[in-house]
Amino acid sequence: MTRIRTQDDYVKAHKQSMENPEKFWGDYAEQFTWHKKWNKVCSGNFQNLDYKWFEGAKLNMSENCLDRHLATKGDKVALLFEPNDPNEDVKRYTYKQLHKEVNKMANVLKNKGVKKGDIVTFYMGMVPELLIGIVACTRIGAIHSVVFGGFSATALADRMIDAKSTVLVTNDASYRGNKTVPLKETADEALAKSPTVKTVLVAKRIGNKVNMQAGRDFWLHDELTKASDTCAPASMDAEDPLFILYTSGSTGKPKGQLHTTAGYMTWAKFTFENVFQVNENDLYWCTADIGWVTGHTYIAYGPLLSGATTIMFEGIPTYPDAGRFWQVVDKHKVTHFYTAPTAIRALQAQGLDFVNKHSLASLKVLGTVGEPINEEAWDWYYKNIGKSKCPIADTWWQTETGGIMISNLAGVTPHKATFATIPLPGVEPMLVDADGKEIKGNPADGNLCISRSWPGMTRGIYGDMDRFKNTYFTTYPGKYFTGDGARRDEKGQYRITGRVDDVINVSGHRIGTAEVEDALNQHEKVVESAVVGYPHEIKGQGIYAYVICTEKPTDQEAFKKELNALVNKIIGPIAKPDKIQLTSGLPKTRSGKIMRRILRKVAENDTSSLGDTSTLLNPEIVEEIIKGAKKI
Ligand code: WT7
Repeated sequence: MTRIRTQDDYVKAHKQSMENPEKFWGDYAEQFTWHKKWNKVCSGNFQNLDYKWFEGAKLNMSENCLDRHLATKGDKVALLFEPNDPNEDVKRYTYKQLHKEVNKMANVLKNKGVKKGDIVTFYMGMVPELLIGIVACTRIGAIHSVVFGGFSATALADRMIDAKSTVLVTNDASYRGNKTVPLKETADEALAKSPTVKTVLVAKRIGNKVNMQAGRDFWLHDELTKASDTCAPASMDAEDPLFILYTSGSTGKPKGQLHTTAGYMTWAKFTFENVFQVNENDLYWCTADIGWVTGHTYIAYGPLLSGATTIMFEGIPTYPDAGRFWQVVDKHKVTHFYTAPTAIRALQAQGLDFVNKHSLASLKVLGTVGEPINEEAWDWYYKNIGKSKCPIADTWWQTETGGIMISNLAGVTPHKATFATIPLPGVEPMLVDADGKEIKGNPADGNLCISRSWPGMTRGIYGDMDRFKNTYFTTYPGKYFTGDGARRDEKGQYRITGRVDDVINVSGHRIGTAEVEDALNQHEKVVESAVVGYPHEIKGQGIYAYVICTEKPTDQEAFKKELNALVNKIIGPIAKPDKIQLTSGLPKTRSGKIMRRILRKVAENDTSSLGDTSTLLNPEIVEEIIKGAKKI
């Protein structure tokens, strides 16, 4: 079955994927271009973390994204680039043109000495060279590591050092609404700390003056003119690494999630076409940044593997005004629109005038991703954007899962406000209680685990398999623990309620509390800090920091600004605390552990039931913290 088109198809597909995954995924994978077929569809063992997909097969990702379509849709637009400034010209690349550009870029990388298995870091704005660059890596078997352009020099350096990356591709600067982001300048600061990077390719976007270090830094356009536009696709093993992508966890150090070739490819295509139900003449737009996994799977790989047209948007939802998304929808007649709840809430707050200037008549399917969507935002999106006729696919997944795991299939299975609903074929979710016991029957509330491997699953944390095991497979032995809590309704449909670990979801981006604490603690006047999330109207969750300092600062506001600037410098603007409370102590247990439950309750302004505080070493501090919070 190439496409699930009815509820009945879904039921059959899910059943077969559980009973006979070999046949289900083997049949599906027939459509790809293989240099050599697999020996076995799925092998290895989930519990031992040595699961493999399509073992023994040889293939190339870029060939499946591009070459495979040349004969049938060479002149179809593959990539449509909509610039930050609505008056600047749109760029379109047909499959033929994109194929050429990717080949040229692959040759540039080769000319710079990049080999199979080398890690190329991308630190760019949302420009076509970014998408071309990552697909070019896959052409020659290099591994890409995209670092979101909003991260700081320190965060970029940490990621390049961890990956032992040899090449960096960046921009002179990028546009962001009415601002510019000095990417090369920040990259220079990071490069000073990252000795493994020997070559830097700079794609010109703005034309600002940048420092170019002779022998290390090269203008990409110069290199492209010298490069041939044919490059044979490297024959990769099914389990060869495709990319790493860093994500936050419960310690300060970011985790490089490793995805491999054949399984990820299969998952990206299968989930893209079945969840969104994009047809031949549709126009699909995912508003994410390629710096996050959503952009990898649902701007680049999923659409290209499916031969769809994908829109890449450089700008922001509120520039030149809060109607920008809707203007772009009308301008290109977008049929499928995929965005994040935080963007929906931010635009909802700007009022309907920005929406009603546009027709939105082309829209057929809407999607959301990144965080739980609240009922008000869902209703607003459904009525005002979808005009009560477009299904909303609420897609739950993670950087680790490679692609969508739980979602309704747009127009095929029913949506339900605030519910991601059903597991895709191949996905076996389960709810467990605090002891790891499976909670059977409906309705139910528990922690969300997945109990068997699926093709798109991360193969581990780059360079740290022990941490991989400890993070995901030890809380509930033998099961993959997602870190999320969930509810199952009487029909067995899932609603994801949010993180239950020390991760905060700010505007759909994961921030580890420990990461922010580590940054705060680097201030010479900070003795200790504790960071928790609290409900935030637009961002979903905001960042609340409790800070103990060596002495009471004379100017508290100035001190808080210093702390914010420090977090901005070490991580980036997305991790800046929304609220900072100075305190003389933190509630601790006798063993010295911070009782975060109390801090969360105070941050949420819900101090009616703080639970059992009798095990605290310093119960008197709770009063001080509650009082202090009222003044913030
Ligand atoms: C975390 C993963 C997956 C791409 C973007 C984020 C939350 C994601 C949903 C949803 C409720 C969601 C979860 C998850 N999340 N999608 N539809 N409903 N929560 O990727 O940075 O790896 O974060 O985002 O908490 O664990 P990520």
